[in-house]
This record gives sequence, structure tokens and C-alpha cells, in this order.
Amino acid sequence: MLKAPRGTVDILPPDSSRWQQLEAVLRSISRKYNHEEIRTPTLEHSELFLRTVGEETDIVQKEMYTFKDKGGRDLTLRPEGTAPCARAFLEHGMSHGRLPKKLFYIGPMFRYEKPQAGRYREHHQYGAEILGSPSPYSDVEVIMLAVDIANELGLSGTQLFINTIGCAGCRGKHREDLTRYLEKHREQLCPDCRSRLERNPLRVLDCKEGSCKAVVKGAPAMLDYLCSECKDHWNQLKGLLASYKLPFEVDTSLVRGLDYYTRTVFELKWPPLGAQDTLLGGGRYDGLVEEIGGGPTPGVGFAAGLERILAASEKGTKPLRASFGMDLFVISQEDRFPSSLNAGFSLLREIRDAGFSGDFDPLQRSIKSQMKQADRLGARYVAIFGAEEMDGGNVTVRRMKDGHQDTVKVNEVVSVLSGEVAESDAAKQ
Ligand code: HAM
Repeated sequence: MLKAPRGTVDILPPDSSRWQQLEAVLRSISRKYNHEEIRTPTLEHSELFLRTVGEETDIVQKEMYTFKDKGGRDLTLRPEGTAPCARAFLEHGMSHGRLPKKLFYIGPMFRYEKPQAGRYREHHQYGAEILGSPSPYSDVEVIMLAVDIANELGLSGTQLFINTIGCAGCRGKHREDLTRYLEKHREQLCPDCRSRLERNPLRVLDCKEGSCKAVVKGAPAMLDYLCSECKDHWNQLKGLLASYKLPFEVDTSLVRGLDYYTRTVFELKWPPLGAQDTLLGGGRYDGLVEEIGGGPTPGVGFAAGLERILAASEKGTKPLRASFGMDLFVISQEDRFPSSLNAGFSLLREIRDAGFSGDFDPLQRSIKSQMKQADRLGARYVAIFGAEEMDGGNVTVRRMKDGHQDTVKVNEVVSVLSGEVAESDAAKQ
């Protein structure tokens, strides 16, 4: 039997309704913050990620789905959404419009990683980006947006970790001293970190290996190398977070796995998730747009993994329901009550026209089995077309939560559903 590729998952009903609800929450929060949606292609020229995410990163070195298309173009399934946003921002002249440009996106990302709980080869991200603002208020605004998402989903106890990795100017000297320090401790580093040492020494700082952690403890800290502008930005950021009551912890080993970051980096974790507990991560990327040929355009943003947010939602205080519920399930049994199927189907048309949701059983199983189906679907009401109802244009409407039942005229069902007529008051003739 053919199966979905390793590390990918099918999103099936009724679970897909949890995805839709999450997406609705994300869209509505984005609107509150005035972020507009952008949809970029799933494919990009590989060069975009080489130049921005960075040739020495794990993503580019090990994880990209890169291939040549039939025209010989070197393409990559996007592993992340920030570089594509910046590319579209430039390509479509958004840089000439009013800045900052506040964007959001929801879509699949692809990384050839070792699949495990919370880590997939195709995962989905919600991302929010602010392009064209150097202000620390913009850093705080995206962090607020991120925290709002967690709060809205009932994920209390999230932990915000922040760090600064300086700018191209102040990072050089730090990198030099860090490399020299790590070289001295080369023997204690894990094999991965030994190779990182040449390629990307900053990444040694967030290695999870015990021996590397011990070395990192004594490493030169970026905070001591910040230029005065980066130091100002960092201090303003911390001051604003404190004054807006956004609790944070400074984690000097937080460096993130993408090369485009400058100054602020942050992650929001939710410990009950276990090993993969990073709900979202982001930071400032003041050189990214220039890297792909644009003018100086500071930017800041973050992205959240939807699979992780959904896994967290199950354990949070406001779990997203795996069903939307339904307003009305219509029950008829054509072989016992001729024309009841047609009467029921007409009623469905009427209630859907009035904006309500409903369904029926085209296979006309027993009334008992249809009642069970209505229950499974979370129907608020069922409308039963039985023997007596079939003479006289009536239908029995049953409120599922308490079993209250009344016989009403078929054309009154819409009023019952909208709560305009209490069932017991509905005229019975
Ligand atoms: P990232 O940290 O690589 O950042 O990914 C963002 C989030 O996507 C992670 O925090 C995690 O929740 C989720 N994620 C990443 N990889 C996987 C995976 N293999 N399986 C499941 N979930 C995953 C970025 O991608 C940046 N573009 C974020 C950003 C936006 N920075 C500035 N703006």
C-alpha cells in the first residue's frame, strides 16, 4: 500500500476543523495588529535561501528539498517564510510604498529533518513580519502578537527567551574571540561542533551536548561586544517588555539556526510539550533585504509551527474542538415514510439558505442509526419526518442537549434554529 512520505502527515476530518479554527484565530489576531496576508510560492530559487538563511546553516547544508526542474532551474521547496516575504517585498516594489509593511502568512514549509514528535519534514507555519521599521517598538509588537496567540489558545505558562546577537559591525570581533576560545577547547566539543567551529561558531553556543554546554559557559558573551546602537536597542527592548508586563528571560546561548538575524532573537517555549517545546521563534533581520539586492530595510518577525501549537492546544485550558458542531440534522426514512426524504432534503435547502448548517443521510439507514450520526456530528437539533409529520406539513424538532421535543410547521424550523421562537411556543395545529 502506498503511504504518505516519511515525516509528512495527512490532516483528516474531524481534526481538520481544529486547523481551520486555529487559522481563524491567527487571522483574527493578525487583523488586530494590522498584518496583511501574503501568499508566496511553495517553490523558490535555491539561491534565495543560500544567500539569506546562510550556506553554513543546518537548513541549507542538510535539510533543503532542492532539485532541478525540467528547464534546469535550481529550485527549493521553501524551508521557511521570511526570505520569500523579503523577496516578494522587493520584487513587487513594496519597499517604495508606505513603511513599515506588516505581513503574515500561513503555509507549508519543508525541511529534511529526522522526524520525531513535533518535528516533521513538511510542517506548517504562521509567520508575522514587519518590514521597514528599525524601532524596538516593532520588536515588542511582534512579541506581543506572539504572546497573544498563546494566551488566546489558553497556553498559560509560556516562557519568552530573548537575546541579542548584535549587528554585522559588532559581531566580527565577537566571532573572532569566540572562535579563538572554542579552538582552545576543541577536544571537549562534540564532532558536530568541531565542524561548526570553522563554519558557524555561533551555533556551538546552543548545542545541547553536555560537554559543549560546559565549554560554552566560559565563552565570550555577545553582550560584552555590543556597539552602542545595538546596546541601546537591546536596553530599550528589555525596558519596553518590562513596562508592558511581558515577562522574559535573557538566554545568552539563544542564537537561532538562520544566518539573517541581527540584534534581537527570541523564542517562546511551552514546557509541557516536551522535547520540541519551541512554539515559535523569530527576531530582527536588518540586513536580509539588502542581501537579496534591496536597499537598507530593517525587519523583524517570527514564525510558529502550527503542528506544535495544535499539540499544545490539546494540553491547554482552551482546547480547539475537533468539530464545528452543526445546527440541524434531518432524519427521514424513505422506505417507511414515502416522500420523507424529499421533505427533509427541501428543509435542508431552506435552512442552509437561511445561513444554518445541516446534513442528512442519503443512504436512509434506520432512524436510530441517523440519531446516532446526529449525535456524533454534534447537531444542536434534529428534525424528524415520521408518520404523523408526513400528513400536515409538520416536523418534529428535537433539541439535542436536553431532549426537548416539539412538533412545528416545517416553515417554522428556521425560526426555531435562530431562537426567535421557543419550540414550546411554536404553533401546533
Ligand atoms: P524557525 O525557528 O526555523 O524560524 O521555525 C519557526 C517555528 O516553526 C519553530 O519555532 C517551530 O515551531 C516550527 N518548526 C520548525 N521546524 C519544524 C519542523 N521540522 N517540524 C515542525 N515544526 C517546525 C523560522 O523559520 C523563521 N523564518 C522565523 C522568523 C520569521 N524569523 C523572523 N521572521
